Amino acid sequence: MNPLIHISPTADDTIRAAAERLAALAIQSIQQRARFSLALAGGSTPRALYSLLAADYQRSIDWPKVHVWWSDERCVPRDHPDSNTRMARESLLSRVPIPETNIHTIRTDLGSHRAADDYEQQLRTFDSTTPLDLTLLGLGTDGHTASLFPGGPALSEHRRWVVSAEAPPASPIKDRVTFTFPLIATSPWVMFLVAGSEKRPMIERILGAHSANSAAEPPLPSQLVRAQTPVEWFLDEPAAGSLRS
Ligand code: 6PG
Repeated sequence: MNPLIHISPTADDTIRAAAERLAALAIQSIQQRARFSLALAGGSTPRALYSLLAADYQRSIDWPKVHVWWSDERCVPRDHPDSNTRMARESLLSRVPIPETNIHTIRTDLGSHRAADDYEQQLRTFDSTTPLDLTLLGLGTDGHTASLFPGGPALSEHRRWVVSAEAPPASPIKDRVTFTFPLIATSPWVMFLVAGSEKRPMIERILGAHSANSAAEPPLPSQLVRAQTPVEWFLDEPAAGSLRS
């Protein structure tokens, strides 16, 4: 299935477009399944989306029926400035009426391997076939997504839903826990949120006219992401470059 590409002039416009789409999916999911199970992306780009959801979508999303997960986490304490859990709690979860029991955190205090096992058990107990309704993802400048890094062993995981991973040396936090492609692929919907000109080379390689990789180049992790419906990309113009919706 070809991806759906949404290009907006600025990062703010992109965040608004993504928020509108997310709210529509939440309403549809709650109507169909009495829940909206949302996997949050980490990094810095989604912070503005989470803040906008807290500010403008208090009433249009039935937050008591929302469950949140994380598509990856850095193995740091929850109050660490690089914690994805901390970022989501500050920007969104402390500002909407979502029950604490609906906030499913990755137990990084267990260490990455046991935390991955624990998180997979949480997901399978929650719903053994389709635990997520929407998975949000970001894109690294090396083409990674979640903590699925180029050349990493997690890319070839075909059975497990959550594994430990190691970020490249340039990353400040190496020890990670991450969704795998098989888990992401169970999601009815997947949305990438990408902004900034530093992401343009990767966007052009992944979504551009010549996005087929040469035989020498293995596919980028973000190119391997699949969902039950076409993957949706929300881009600002600096990231989209010459790409068109
Ligand atoms: C993480 C993220 C990671 C992120 C990309 C983009 O924990 O780092 O899950 O996959 O989405 O690295 O990060 P930025 O939004 O900060 O560019």
